[in-house]
Parts: sequence; structure tokens; C-alpha cells
Amino acid sequence: MKITIVAGSNQKLATSTKLAQYVQHLAEQEGHQVKFVDLYQSPIPFYSPDDAHGGHEALESFKQALHEAEGIVLATPEYHSGISGVLKNALDHVGQDYFKNKAVLSVSSAGGAIAVSSLTQLQAIVRNLHGINCPEWLSIGGDQRNSFQTGAAHSDIHPDVDKRVRRVVSSFLDLTKQLTVKQ
Ligand SMILES: Cc1cc2nc3c(=O)[nH]c(=O)nc-3n(C[C@H](O)[C@H](O)[C@H](O)COP(=O)(O)O)c2cc1C
Repeated sequence: MKITIVAGSNQKLATSTKLAQYVQHLAEQEGHQVKFVDLYQSPIPFYSPDDAHGGHEALESFKQALHEAEGIVLATPEYHSGISGVLKNALDHVGQDYFKNKAVLSVSSAGGAIAVSSLTQLQAIVRNLHGINCPEWLSIGGDQRNSFQTGAAHSDIHPDVDKRVRRVVSSFLDLTKQLTVKQ
């Protein structure tokens, strides 16, 4: 299946981006075709209703990656009990045509124990875009982020965190498959 992952941090070494890269690794291991859009590496201009930014390279690639995706993963750091500004801005550029009836997995990293506020907000945005929220979500908080610090290898991921990530990714891929077959 075609999976698009959007890393929504504006930080080079973000733990949410490293977690998203691990999700990519797991999906590719299962034989899926993954496109990875890193909003730090490929910044998107501020959305303005007055200017559609047609032809902007990073914006067009972002839209194309979402358009062709059968399943979508959105990753964000938790900022002030919400999602990052860069991810919100990117999502403001697209509408229901890009998300309708597609499985979407929300992923977040927080300083606190659970990234529940940003994940709840992200799922509300997905619902508004007519995507289908995966019943599971992925949150790393506090010390769990050590598994995704700079230089950490896949073998360094704490077994409990790894077990949960694998279970959630598997449930997201199952939902994507079910929704893809029905269309
Ligand atoms: C501007 C800002 C706001 C933050 N707000 C919260 C917050 O509301 N709740 C929380 O648990 N952590 C908060 N944090 C901590 C980040 O969520 C934490 O550092 C997280 O790991 C960032 O993810 P990243 O590694 O993907 O950048 C905030 C950090 C920054 C810089």
C-alpha cells in the first residue's frame, strides 16, 4: 500500500520525527511503499486565502504525497497543549479531497507523560478533513523519548515502547487495508 508520513516538527533532531522514521521502517519491512515528508527539511509557505502558492515545490510535493496516499501518518511535537504551527499550517493548505476515507494515524511527542492534547486536536482536524482516525494513536512522553534521541538505534528502543509502536502501526496498516479494499 502507499503510505505517506508527515513529520510536523520544525526541529532537525525532533523525537517525533525519529519516531515517524521508525514507523516508516516498520511499514517498509511489511512491503509498503512509504513517502516521508519532513516539514523541517521542506518548509511550506504560510497559508493565505489570498495566495494559493501554486508551483511552490515543497507545497506541491506535500500535496502530491497526500493525494496518492492510501494511508497517512501525521507526527507532531506537543506545543502548548496543541500541535506544532508548521503542521497546522501545512494542513491548512489541503482539504477533504486529500484525506477523504483514508486511514490516518496520529503520532506525538510530549515533555509530559502523554501527548493527549495534541493527539486529540490532531484527530479533530482529521475528522474535519473527512479522514478516518485510527482508533489507536502513538504517544511518547517524558523518558520514553530517550528511545528516539539523536544517535539512538532501533535496538535501543525500550521493549515496552517498541511493543506498543509495533502494535499500533500494525492496527493502522490493517485499517488502511480494509479501507483500500472497500473503495
Ligand atoms: C513551545 C513549546 C511548547 C511546549 N508545550 C508542551 C506542552 O504543552 N505539553 C508538554 O507535555 N510538553 C510541551 N513541550 C515539550 C515538548 O512537547 C517536548 O520537548 C517534545 O518532546 C517535543 O517533540 P520533538 O522532540 O518532536 O520536537 C513544549 C515545548 C515547546 C518548545
